[in-house]
Amino acid sequence: MLKTNLSILAVVIGCLGVFTWVANAIPQIQSDVPEDLVLSDDVSPEELIAAGEELYNGGGGCTACHGLGERAPNLLTDHAGTGLIGERCANRVAGEDCKQYLHTSMVNPNAYLVEGFAPIMLDASRTLSSVQIWALVAYLQSLGGEVTVTGADFADAGDAAPAGGVVAAAPAAPVLGPTGPLDPEELLTRHTCSTCHAVTGASPLGPSYEGMGSRLTADEIRTSILDPTASAAEGFEAMLGLMPPIFGNIPAAELEAIVQFIASQR
Ligand code: HEC
Ligand code: HEC
Repeated sequence: MLKTNLSILAVVIGCLGVFTWVANAIPQIQSDVPEDLVLSDDVSPEELIAAGEELYNGGGGCTACHGLGERAPNLLTDHAGTGLIGERCANRVAGEDCKQYLHTSMVNPNAYLVEGFAPIMLDASRTLSSVQIWALVAYLQSLGGEVTVTGADFADAGDAAPAGGVVAAAPAAPVLGPTGPLDPEELLTRHTCSTCHAVTGASPLGPSYEGMGSRLTADEIRTSILDPTASAAEGFEAMLGLMPPIFGNIPAAELEAIVQFIASQR
């Protein structure tokens, strides 16, 4: 009897071991979403600036565009005689002070376009928390201006998750109706793909979908969307890293409609 019990126990332990091993062996898609930033309401300006500077140069992904030639205005130096970003922020939009302007530039980047640039910047709240965005505002203010961000800014914002943030991604997704197929072009616009990719002709930033279906299989297209840094599109090697790794939360039916649409572009 004891022997039977022991061998049952051994089988159970063995099974658990195998499952754990299999679970750990399955490769996980890595996403570069920056680490959570936790700051208290009485955070000092220096702590905010330091956190913002780290995000700016690292996980925030800002340097993919800013500071590199012509793609986006330089935020660390003067731009077209308007001064450093901490200075020019106050003169950009009538009625908006520096702090408001910088915050809007990040969460609603197309509200105001700096002259000469295309609307390629994405809503930062898709990848960054409210605290992280305010830390970036503080850092940019510190470049030539006065830091007026305080803990109160994100204490209020905490529950008011900005439109387009994590909140919008999940529930806003319309369910695939039994009657109608999803409209792929509408999906490409809603998931912001169209800010970088055109269906035909010249694309704002990434390659256009024209002919993609003859170069890539549906599987390759799906991988490029879910894990954009896995491989670079030919001729776009220098832009690897620009496409954000945030599309893993597109509902499966919608992702499939997008993949099939791109695969049909020959
Ligand atoms: C995909 C490229 C891209 C990325 C990534 C990007 N930006 Fe931008 N950004 C732009 C472009 C282009 C403009 C100019 C057009 C406009 O105003 O939207 C701009 C404008 C701005 C402005 C207004 C500048 C001014 O002179 O008034 C601020 C502030 C800014 N970005 C901050 C950031 C921060 C902070 C990050 C990182 C969280 C970031 N951006 C990431 C492309 C980008
Ligand atoms: C911020 C700009 C940007 C956004 C937004 C964006 N992409 Fe991209 N995408 C790029 C760039 C740049 C490349 C080329 C570099 C690379 O391969 O990563 C690319 C590459 C691709 C490729 C691979 C093309 C090839 O020939 O290998 C596919 C497929 C793709 N994107 C689809 C999408 C879809 C679908 C969306 C929306 C869910 C999207 N992209 C959103 C910029 C973007």
